[in-house]
Amino acid sequence: MTIHTVVLIPGDGIGPEVSDAVKAVFEAAEAPVRFVTQYAGVAALDRGKEDLLPAETVAAIREHHVALKGPCTTPIGAGFSSVNVALRKKLNLYAAVRPVRSMPGVKTRFEDVDLIIVRENTEGLYSGIENLITDGVVASLKVATRVACHRIAHWTFKYATHRQRKKISVFHKANIMKMSDGMFIDEARKVHNEDYPNIKYEEVIIDAAHMKLVQDPSQFDIILCENLYGDLVSDLCAGLVGGLGVTPGANIGDDDAVFEAVHGSAPDIAGKGVANPLALLMSGTMMLNRLADTRHDPRCAEVAEKIKRAYSAALEDGQKTRDLGGELGTQGFVQAVIERLNG
Ligand code: NAI
Repeated sequence: MTIHTVVLIPGDGIGPEVSDAVKAVFEAAEAPVRFVTQYAGVAALDRGKEDLLPAETVAAIREHHVALKGPCTTPIGAGFSSVNVALRKKLNLYAAVRPVRSMPGVKTRFEDVDLIIVRENTEGLYSGIENLITDGVVASLKVATRVACHRIAHWTFKYATHRQRKKISVFHKANIMKMSDGMFIDEARKVHNEDYPNIKYEEVIIDAAHMKLVQDPSQFDIILCENLYGDLVSDLCAGLVGGLGVTPGANIGDDDAVFEAVHGSAPDIAGKGVANPLALLMSGTMMLNRLADTRHDPRCAEVAEKIKRAYSAALEDGQKTRDLGGELGTQGFVQAVIERLNG
């Protein structure tokens, strides 16, 4: 039986608590995974590293290609840049994927939400190029390259085909940003017409798209966006299904992939044993599904399904942490999931 080695970055704040929770569920579910721990964020500085993202952490991901990452604190005003942005750049993790689905037992305005947001992760306004033009005037550069626009469009259509999804909607503002967003939709349209005509495709101006999303999310399936829009749209969509505690995410490149919950290190509740580990656990099941695909190991998909059934059953039975209106702490929820693994 193959055991897949995966890098685990516990992160900061609630990160170690929710990482331990995922490890406990994986162990109980007999996931064919061995975690090797590496550090990033303040946890790395605390261990004497000079950088929030130590070279050995990046090297370990390059070696094993897959990582599960807890949230990392970015110290404010200390000259450090975000671990997440640095990881995406160093490993060229150009596709951010966030599935957003209604969860059993989590009551929200809409039922049966089932969306996937794909965000271009490397350029746009997050390229970090800002200049002081003159006193009182700054310019922030929105970068779009044809290569990156094509790459994310191609990745998304391929993903849609593999996951048997029906439609891709590109959210854009090409009516104003005619060149940058214009190039983004040009490339998506080209990939659709030339390579994937069977998948439905539409372009929606992002302001109207937001209105449509909150009126009726079922009209969308996969949403493809450039970096900034993707960041905003994915949090809006998280709100449609119950918020940060139930939203997993992945950052994927050609060689490597880093799976992480969307929430941060939640310093306000760190160490209190009340953090909801579900989002990281869901990210863990995404990771297992990727291992199943890329390593051709169907057992990983079976275990992912088993874990998914167990946490869904726990939620249905009202076994929830406080952020979802329940009363359980982190350990209590882990126990509730483990008890339902073989049910
Ligand atoms: P946050 O997501 O940490 O917290 C926002 C609110 O949600 C807080 O009230 C928190 O208690 C609650 N919350 C978050 N996750 C929860 C969970 N699993 N269970 C229960 N409640 C939860 O966002 P905030 O406060 O803006 O950021 C705190 C730190 O996290 C910052 O240093 C920020 O840079 C970092 N961060 C890291 C991310 C990452 O590594 N992926 C993503 C977002 C923020």
